[in-house]
Amino acid sequence: MKKVITYGTYDLFHQGHYNLLKHAKELGDYLIVGVTSEAFDQARGKLNVRDSLVKRIENVRKSGFADEIIVEEYMGQKIDDIKRYGIDIFTVGSDWVGHFDYLNEFCKVHYLERTKGISSTDIRNRETIRLGVWGAGSVAHRFCLEAKFVSGLEVTGIYREGVDEAAANELAEQNQLLIYEDWQEFMEEVDAVYICNPLQEHARCIRMALEAAKHVICETPFMSDAKEAEALFELAGQKKLILFHGLKTAYCPAFLRMVSLSKTGLIGNVLTVDASFTKIFANASSGQVRSNSGGSMNALGEYPLLAAIKLLGTDFRESKFFSRKTEDVDGYTWFYLGYEHSMAKGTVAIDAKKEGCLTIAGTKGYLYVPSPWWKTEYFEARFENFNKNMKYFYKFQGEGFRYEIAEFVRCILKGQGSLMLTKEESLAMARVLEMYRDSVGVETF
Ligand code: CTP
Repeated sequence: MKKVITYGTYDLFHQGHYNLLKHAKELGDYLIVGVTSEAFDQARGKLNVRDSLVKRIENVRKSGFADEIIVEEYMGQKIDDIKRYGIDIFTVGSDWVGHFDYLNEFCKVHYLERTKGISSTDIRNRETIRLGVWGAGSVAHRFCLEAKFVSGLEVTGIYREGVDEAAANELAEQNQLLIYEDWQEFMEEVDAVYICNPLQEHARCIRMALEAAKHVICETPFMSDAKEAEALFELAGQKKLILFHGLKTAYCPAFLRMVSLSKTGLIGNVLTVDASFTKIFANASSGQVRSNSGGSMNALGEYPLLAAIKLLGTDFRESKFFSRKTEDVDGYTWFYLGYEHSMAKGTVAIDAKKEGCLTIAGTKGYLYVPSPWWKTEYFEARFENFNKNMKYFYKFQGEGFRYEIAEFVRCILKGQGSLMLTKEESLAMARVLEMYRDSVGVETF
């Protein structure tokens, strides 16, 4: 019996997949189809897969050509599968010509003619979300670069109000964006708006975009007025729009895994969460950070707050802040959130430097995420008995914005807010930033 194996994601199952499976089956007597797992796709940078693994397997099964379906979970699995299943022929479409020649050592490799004019990427791009940018700082540049890795969304324009002309021109030139001076015109050309202008503008800008029936992704720091933030979420809900908190760490696979792991009880009851994020900005952006956000707590505070809130929840009972201020700007802030049985500590600075790690202390052990933990790709679980220590490795792609952009697209398509960073969690962060803004529990040194 001649055994054939082929692999693919099979997202949004289409004619190209059907033809490939049909011809693969014709190559032998028994066809095994490997369908990629979500984690494997994510690790190799395929972030936009729309269908769940179960649905993709079901679609392959329904084609009627597969005698057996397996899940592809890791790099190098193809060699193991070929040996394990006694495969005679490995096949994939001609878009991969040459790529799998190394498998010739184990079985025959046969590239099948790819069906022209169709792909999952094309289907995803058919309903492309046109995104307009409001702001042109360095974060906007990184965001636009990363958006290119996400199918189903295209950054198309920039709105000029309040944005420096030279900065807008540079962003537009580098990303082939149209510049809009007129709000109505801008609104006619986009489906969603990325707000990355100064914090004090966020509420007004979010409201304008929501009132014009556009989805919104707002860069960190989201809001420092909890009531206002709540009202905006309510407005988004009434209008069936997505109001999305653009805090990239919240959507990064390794960070999410680390949070889930801590909830399993592996390190016992979590007692403290301790996170730091310090960054001495270059002179040019230092002024911008100061005027845009008003210091380290606003500029970076949401990162340690995210760790605290994801790991300990939103019902903290008290907060305290200790800031070193110069000319009314906090260059260094240490803060504390008290919970019933635990506490969180955070350090942020734009004028000082310290180790940027995250540690989560528990009654049985602790989790350690080295600097830069806000771009988590590796962490450890450590115990008294070091033989039990575990190391966890993941891939962190690019600047990390692509994860939040992919999740934003998913939320818009599903018509549902994100579970990775919920409205309640965003509101809890706004509450803390509001207390800091209003000098509640703030001491200076
Ligand atoms: N395939 C094909 N013809 C197409 C599309 C895909 O023969 N028009 C083949 C691929 O070469 C591969 C298999 O179908 O052997 C599964 O491909 P997959 O990557 O899941 O599909 P794509 O449509 O190429 O997906 P994407 O656009 O996300 O890369």
